[in-house]
Amino acid sequence: MNAKQAAAHKAVQYIKDGMIVGLGTGSTAYWAIQYLGERVKQGMQITAVATSDQTERLALQCGIKISDMDAVDHIDIDIDGADEIDHRLNLIKGGGGALLREKIVAAGSKTFIVIADESKMVKILGQFPLPVEIIPFGWQHTSRRLALLGCQTAMRQKEAGPFKTDNGNYILDCRFGSISDPAVLQQQINSIPGVVENGLFVKMASAVVVGYSDGTVKEFS
Ligand code: 5RP
Repeated sequence: MNAKQAAAHKAVQYIKDGMIVGLGTGSTAYWAIQYLGERVKQGMQITAVATSDQTERLALQCGIKISDMDAVDHIDIDIDGADEIDHRLNLIKGGGGALLREKIVAAGSKTFIVIADESKMVKILGQFPLPVEIIPFGWQHTSRRLALLGCQTAMRQKEAGPFKTDNGNYILDCRFGSISDPAVLQQQINSIPGVVENGLFVKMASAVVVGYSDGTVKEFS
């Protein structure tokens, strides 16, 4: 079992029969969905909500039925990956472009468990370019306003053109280098017209399960 598998395997043990479960997006969440699928095949009854179209397709392949977010009034547990995690359990997310739905699902969850390999743990957030989801209309204006906050922005690309999120928006990857106050920065970013949401998840994680290359895990909360 590699580091991502070990973290995912441990986190899935927190899922109990009858729970409403948020399913994250990315290569670590992939393993959580696989392990949960095995338990569902063994008879576990759960309701699941997906944070992306990609995760929905994967979950269905694993035999996990997906409910609409609005068909549930809360989520018991959400399991998702992260791109960076600091010692206060603040996160950068959105490397896979699913940050908006990921944040809505995490915010609606009683327990939000982050799974990651050890490479994601950092002293200070910001080496990983912060993904910001923006409306296509006037995106260059939005980009210039974001740059005034002290970052270099880059339009995320896919094949011939801009990457489009599941919500039909663009992503600007914003290179800050280091983010000294994530709580302030997330408010500054979200107050710019054209910004839909940013990938800073501040004080949202209930626990982080970190996997190591020898297959062991450590939990932080
Ligand atoms: C997707 C995300 C992912 O959780 C994040 O990018 C981590 O992905 P991985 O587990 O593949 O490293 O935020 O939008």
